[in-house]
Amino acid sequence: MDFTMDRGQWSGRGAFVLAAAGSAVGLGNIWKFPYLAGEHGGGAFVLVYLACVAVVGVPVMMTEIMLGRRAQRNPVAAMAHLAREAGASSAWKLVGVMGVVAGAIILSFYSVVAGWIIDYLVRAATGSFAGLDPGGAEAALEGLLGNPHEQALWHSVFMLLTMGVVACGVMRGLERAARIMMPALAAIMLVLTGYGLAQGDMGRALAFMFAADFTRISPQTVLAAVGQAFFSLSLGMGAIMVYGSYLERHILIARATIYVACADTAFALLAGLAVFSIVFAHGMAPASGPGLILKTLPVAFGGVPGGALLGSLFFLLVVFAAWTSSISIAEPGIAWMVENLRLGRGRACVIFGALVWVLGIAALLSFNLWQDVKLFGLSIFDALDYLASNILLPVGGLLIVVFGSWVMRRTHAREELPLGERWFGVWRFAARYVAPVGVTLIFLNVTGLLG
Ligand code: TRP
Repeated sequence: MDFTMDRGQWSGRGAFVLAAAGSAVGLGNIWKFPYLAGEHGGGAFVLVYLACVAVVGVPVMMTEIMLGRRAQRNPVAAMAHLAREAGASSAWKLVGVMGVVAGAIILSFYSVVAGWIIDYLVRAATGSFAGLDPGGAEAALEGLLGNPHEQALWHSVFMLLTMGVVACGVMRGLERAARIMMPALAAIMLVLTGYGLAQGDMGRALAFMFAADFTRISPQTVLAAVGQAFFSLSLGMGAIMVYGSYLERHILIARATIYVACADTAFALLAGLAVFSIVFAHGMAPASGPGLILKTLPVAFGGVPGGALLGSLFFLLVVFAAWTSSISIAEPGIAWMVENLRLGRGRACVIFGALVWVLGIAALLSFNLWQDVKLFGLSIFDALDYLASNILLPVGGLLIVVFGSWVMRRTHAREELPLGERWFGVWRFAARYVAPVGVTLIFLNVTGLLG
């Protein structure tokens, strides 16, 4: 196979860091992190989460970037190539195949949720939240979930946005999107945090997220924190691997990883503070899951002067965050279709996008017309989420980190990670022992094998 083809590259380290941070900062940061923190002891969870990012997230991310950068190929071809180089079984390429499949599945329901957010952006901008009470917000959400046409419309729009960027290639698509949206994201985040500080109840938000109640740390807390660190940093399906494959040889992986992990964590913490200061200022309880953003914030935004603008800004923030993530979820599959199947990028995007779009339609129908269809007792939406997030990602992440630290030759890893002897030893210990044990625990927990 000819891999000398021009596959595109980031223009430099800054572009890579922006794009990888764009991948990491997404729906996971803005609603999931604050709600998990609230449920698992606030500050204690935050502390455990930070530790998980440091001891599991960072070593796994370094490994993914390292594998991609060394191979300079899409994840399927990369794993095949690296296995050959290490004298290991060619079956390792299945890790890449699993990533492509996981990408299609994750993107299908991610796009449906992002579609809800676009819908809410339009509602906020047109002033339809004005004077909304909690009952009204609940009814509005139920109305949306019960309406397949409205959901299908915004899901289609989000898929077009995503595949439109991916079709433009690495520099003119992925990199440009990150260059435009990430600064906008940071600016909107600061405006909202500023608003929370000025008008919201930042004191209670801070107490909620940082007052450490250590009695509430349980094994479940730790497992939830590891799982969240993993999802939030986009690990386990080759998204960060394929981003690493567009990276030049001389760039220092460890430093880039630290920047991305810090940016992702900062966004999660700021999102939590902004959301909760607004929620508390309006005397509302931090509801859980999707309810937090979609049920409480419209009420909060509907009750203040300038709420239409503020609400629009907030949902625009979430759309941007989801958009720079969704392109990274698609990229392993697209790169594989272009490099291995020899399709043009545009055509690959049409085929992959159409497939994911159909899956997404099935997912959104499971809230209404097909709500009685169950797979293993789960709705189609929940089954897709479960299969990808709870099975494919942890298994993929485990295999990636095991390959990089046990199968790949030490000298080769050493070439990619030119750290001091001591730090290289720290990475290798974390990658060989700490991360695999952590990931195995998540896997056993979410599949219910841990009781
Ligand atoms: N990290 C993103 C979020 O927090 C989601 C995401 C993007 C992702 N790429 C991924 C998750 C790859 C797992 C694997 O919303």
